[in-house]
Amino acid sequence: MLKKTKKTGGFASGIGFVLAAAGSAIGLGNLWAFPYKTAENGGAAFLFLYIACVLFIGVVTMICEIFIGRRAQANPVSAYKKINKNLGWIGLIAVAVPLLITCYYSVLGGYTVKFAFGSFVGNTNSLTAFAGKEWQVILFTGLFLVFALIIVMAGIKGGIEKMSKVLMPALFLLLVAVVIFVLFLGEGVADGLRYYLIPDFSKITWDSVLAAMGQAFYSLSLGMGAMIVYGSYTGKEINVLKSTAMICVFDTIVAVLAGLAIFPAVFHFAALEGVAPENLKLNGLMLMFETLPKVFESIGYAGNIVEFFFFAMVVIAAVTSVISILEVSSQFLIQKFKIRRKLGSLIVAVFAFSVSIPVGISLGNSLNGEATMQLFGLDYLSFLDTVTNTVLMPICAFLSCVSVGWIIGPKKAIAELETEGNKFGALKSTVAVMLRFIVPTLIAVVEIFGLIDLIFPSGVFSANGLWITVCSFALLGVAVAVYFLFLKNSETGSNADEKE
Ligand code: PFF
Repeated sequence: MLKKTKKTGGFASGIGFVLAAAGSAIGLGNLWAFPYKTAENGGAAFLFLYIACVLFIGVVTMICEIFIGRRAQANPVSAYKKINKNLGWIGLIAVAVPLLITCYYSVLGGYTVKFAFGSFVGNTNSLTAFAGKEWQVILFTGLFLVFALIIVMAGIKGGIEKMSKVLMPALFLLLVAVVIFVLFLGEGVADGLRYYLIPDFSKITWDSVLAAMGQAFYSLSLGMGAMIVYGSYTGKEINVLKSTAMICVFDTIVAVLAGLAIFPAVFHFAALEGVAPENLKLNGLMLMFETLPKVFESIGYAGNIVEFFFFAMVVIAAVTSVISILEVSSQFLIQKFKIRRKLGSLIVAVFAFSVSIPVGISLGNSLNGEATMQLFGLDYLSFLDTVTNTVLMPICAFLSCVSVGWIIGPKKAIAELETEGNKFGALKSTVAVMLRFIVPTLIAVVEIFGLIDLIFPSGVFSANGLWITVCSFALLGVAVAVYFLFLKNSETGSNADEKE
């Protein structure tokens, strides 16, 4: 099924590619966003919806992105140029978006490292204190980035693939261990499971459909260049359809398991302390760094060990995600300027680190209730998150589908994707229709409603939302201008130009 690839410089094996791509996909989105979105949106009912989104939008978009990279054996700019010389700007956006994400994801990565270390001495009530200690935040962000940088510097085969092969199974084992421990805690566990999973179809609204689509995109690392780049390091020998299916299955399993680790534990704690679970913070940053440490540490010493397992797993998930986006901008620099991998990735990491400093400080201020260092009413982290997640990523994903579905054309694309023993068969016409009509329409819906929600949150006009949208489109405009001014007619390199 997944044979060895003969190419040098790229992934050495199909399973190496699948694990690295799954490593990119499995990240904080699975561990802290999916569980609470599921709980809030009707439990298993949301899960069905989510699986439908993965099947109907995620799979096709991922195939497109991997395909775009693979057929070009080059960075996203060159890859889109290969489709059509006037489309290279899409590739530049696919390089810029992950760079912006690296700048804030590393701060969160720093938090996870700090909380992993802190598990032994106790993390209870330490979120705001830590967030406010600027030097510590900078230090841990740096530590996290250095770890990721070392892996990227070592190259695809020797760094990213090798580490993914070790870290992904480790993540899975840690997660299963935590789930088993939590399920045997006793009191409250059943309530937690009920809260998380009992299907409640009455809670499925238009908003939950949008939440499921958005979550599927983010969770599968689509629209951020990562799959194009990893795809570029694979050869014809890899069965794109099967690999995509495996990545999506792994990603979904981990997301579901994360909820099984979190909610029963939280409800157990609530039962013991006699507090109403609704009074605990059950989403996002607060769930991860405030509620969960309290929950684990209330169990005693075994709780501290489980807490360490949990945060070690979160660190792994964050590192294997960040290396995929660090790789995107590094690959472009390395190939465009024909510089060494170590230098290219170092430049990207230093840039990301410099930007992450104000981002980390701004987040700390906001967690401590100070409205300083904000952009349009948001701390810098939320600002960058909104620009990338809400506006630019769906645009990138949309353009990748349109490029394959309309510019390359489904016939040619499928013919290129098919190899010996890797035939689409009866799926051919379904894939073609989805690629051309259904998937782009659904992504456009995500984008349009995302923008409406940003500019008119709860139906009321928000000038801040409008400005964030303007900034995002301005960025897009800059990418287009830079491409046509400087890149369209110059050499932008390929994987063959890489020096170790
Ligand atoms: N799929 C990732 C997640 O679920 O967290 C999204 C992601 C974010 C990938 C940041 C890479 C990254 F650096």
